Amino acid sequence: MATVLVTGGAGYIGSHTCVQLLDAGHEVIVLDNLSNSSEQSLHRVQSLSNKTLTFIRGDIRDAATLDQLFAKYNIDAVIHFAGLKAVGESQQIPLTYFEHNIAGSIALFNAMQRAQVFKLVFSSSATVYDESNISPLNEDMPTGMPSNNYGYTKLIIEQLLEKLAIAEPKWSIALLRYFNPVGAHKSGCMGEDPQGTPNNLMPYVTQVAVGRREQLSIYGNDYDTVDGTGVRDYIHVVDLASAHLCALKNRLLSTGCRAWNIGTGTGSSVLQVVQAFEKVNGINIPYQFVPRREGDVATSFSDNRRAITELGWKPQYTLEDMLLDSWNWQKTNPKGYR
Ligand code: NAD
Ligand code: WQD
Repeated sequence: MATVLVTGGAGYIGSHTCVQLLDAGHEVIVLDNLSNSSEQSLHRVQSLSNKTLTFIRGDIRDAATLDQLFAKYNIDAVIHFAGLKAVGESQQIPLTYFEHNIAGSIALFNAMQRAQVFKLVFSSSATVYDESNISPLNEDMPTGMPSNNYGYTKLIIEQLLEKLAIAEPKWSIALLRYFNPVGAHKSGCMGEDPQGTPNNLMPYVTQVAVGRREQLSIYGNDYDTVDGTGVRDYIHVVDLASAHLCALKNRLLSTGCRAWNIGTGTGSSVLQVVQAFEKVNGINIPYQFVPRREGDVATSFSDNRRAITELGWKPQYTLEDMLLDSWNWQKTNPKGYR
């Protein structure tokens, strides 16, 4: 069993991963500044797993906090979720994104190096792939220049980690390229809790369902897809969390830097998602078509075979599970963790 530092562990994906780490017997130290989360999620992590974790409220950009933490706990590996993730906001305040995501990550990697901790699982994104690639996207396809500053930060961090692993072979780094995380813990106690207006499809749909928003705007119905709406690879957050445990196990035994797609390998259109949500949950979702959103691609879904064969990971949940669990979380917690 390992002692794992989880940066951003109070957030959506981090909290689901912490439950599984504790269930598997790992010791968990969370570092989070709570800028986009609540400590409440960590209380729920602990009550679900019936185990305790250590929480440090702090920032990944703070070298002194990092050094103290590495000195105090005998950390074996780091799962690095902390960062800012709002695509639209990243266009308005790029420097803030560069600072938290790029400078923050470099501060973390420096502290890891000082503490001689070289095992890292990093939250990357399918957004790093060049837009000209045709789905299913596989890890050997070229990366490109993401259309937004958020995506750009992910690409930069991937590239610098690749160079770091070449220069210093002690490093062992997993780049997990997430597709579209949705869903929530089966208990309904943990889920996605976006602040303000949701940018992503699923929280918007559940907020319409719970009456917090009037109707969904579907961005474009003239794409070259099955019904004209955008196609994405939605992945249950519990499956995504389990990929981190598989990647951790893999990285504890090897070196180098390697990318893995974490998706189901299947694409669903916005209309298919909305209609399936209505069907499984018995709720009507009013919607209107509006023009395409800038920066969106028609279709993006994964080839997930590398993660299945190399990490021994396999997604368990269907789109219906994702929609049931997202709604279960939202209806039990209409105001999220507040
Ligand atoms: P989230 O916002 O719920 O979690 C991120 C956490 O990091 C939050 O708890 C926040 O308070 C914390 N944080 C932010 N900046 C920090 C800093 N400087 N120091 C310490 N803590 C900080 O987001 P999430 O959906 O759980 O995403 C986790 C990671 O996965 C992020 O790196 C994100 O970019 C990446 N990712 C997310 C998606 C997605 O659609 N959710 C897709 C691809 C990649
Ligand atoms: C999905 C589909 C929209 C909202 C983004 C980031 C990516 C990653 C995951 C993470 C698209 C449509 C959406 C709405 C809609 N980021 N949509 N109405 O854009 O695939 O990926 O989140 O940290 O980097 O770019 O996800 O959920 O925003 O959109 O019609 O109100 O739903 O056009 O086709 P996306 P999404």
